[in-house]
Amino acid sequence: MGVGKAHGKIILMGEHSVVYGYPAIAIPLKTIEVECHIRPADQRITFDFEDTLSTAIYAALKELGKTAATITYDIKSEVPLQRGMGSSAAVSIAAIRAVFDYFEQPLDKETLEILVNQAEIIAHTNPSGLDAKTCLSDQAIKFIRNIGFEQLDLSLNAYLIIADTGVHGNTREAVDKVAAAEEANLPYLAQLGLLADQVEQAIKDKDLLSVGQAMTAAHAMLQKIGVSVEESDHLVQVALEAGALGAKMSGGGLGGCIIALAQNQEQAQIISGKLEEEGASQTWIQKL
Ligand code: PMV
Repeated sequence: MGVGKAHGKIILMGEHSVVYGYPAIAIPLKTIEVECHIRPADQRITFDFEDTLSTAIYAALKELGKTAATITYDIKSEVPLQRGMGSSAAVSIAAIRAVFDYFEQPLDKETLEILVNQAEIIAHTNPSGLDAKTCLSDQAIKFIRNIGFEQLDLSLNAYLIIADTGVHGNTREAVDKVAAAEEANLPYLAQLGLLADQVEQAIKDKDLLSVGQAMTAAHAMLQKIGVSVEESDHLVQVALEAGALGAKMSGGGLGGCIIALAQNQEQAQIISGKLEEEGASQTWIQKL
């Protein structure tokens, strides 16, 4: 058997604007895991290029010259689908690792990232690479498309609440929607870029209030570019009323998750309880 594991991610700042070259900050969710198993089978494997998992398996087999392999695969994922938590990237990483493990081949970081991005192109058409990079990282990162990334020390002694609206997001549709009105959206995208810079500085200064304020301001910009939905707006409001220092939607949007910043664990629990009462289908608390 071959086994591969990976974890999810959440975007703190910079979704959408990252596509236009502005910085983004994202956090790996190391406790929310995906595991892929590869086993021998009687028949040759077939591929479905509409499906990210199948495409990732293909990309890995092709790299190894084994696309006619007689194998089967399954995946166990704690990362909910289409919620901006990196499901497609995490599934691809786990699958590629599992294929290389099955064939007992070494897999270096660069090859893994190239293969993941090949599968992500199927899932997202034109991904910035942020998802793959964060799911491959053990630490928070600042990422700039086509330029690179750096690890960020996020020891803020604070808590991030992630709440699922229960509405499937649609990253591809959201990215296309922003692009369709690019000219009108450019000032808002620039503002999102500035807010990501502010959060980077506030993280360095350990200034939680500024992180929170910038998050809430970013939500307003994401509303303006048309990628938020009523359910996300509602949960953002609920989190703020429950005492969050800031809150915003996260990821591609048109559904998916919101995130909220809490000063301590007790406050995080109060906020997550309120979010569940007010319609969140699931919540997670992540220490920062
Ligand atoms: O929906 P997610 O978490 O996969 O985030 C996509 C982030 C975008 O900036 C909207 C798109 C991208 O390719 O970076």
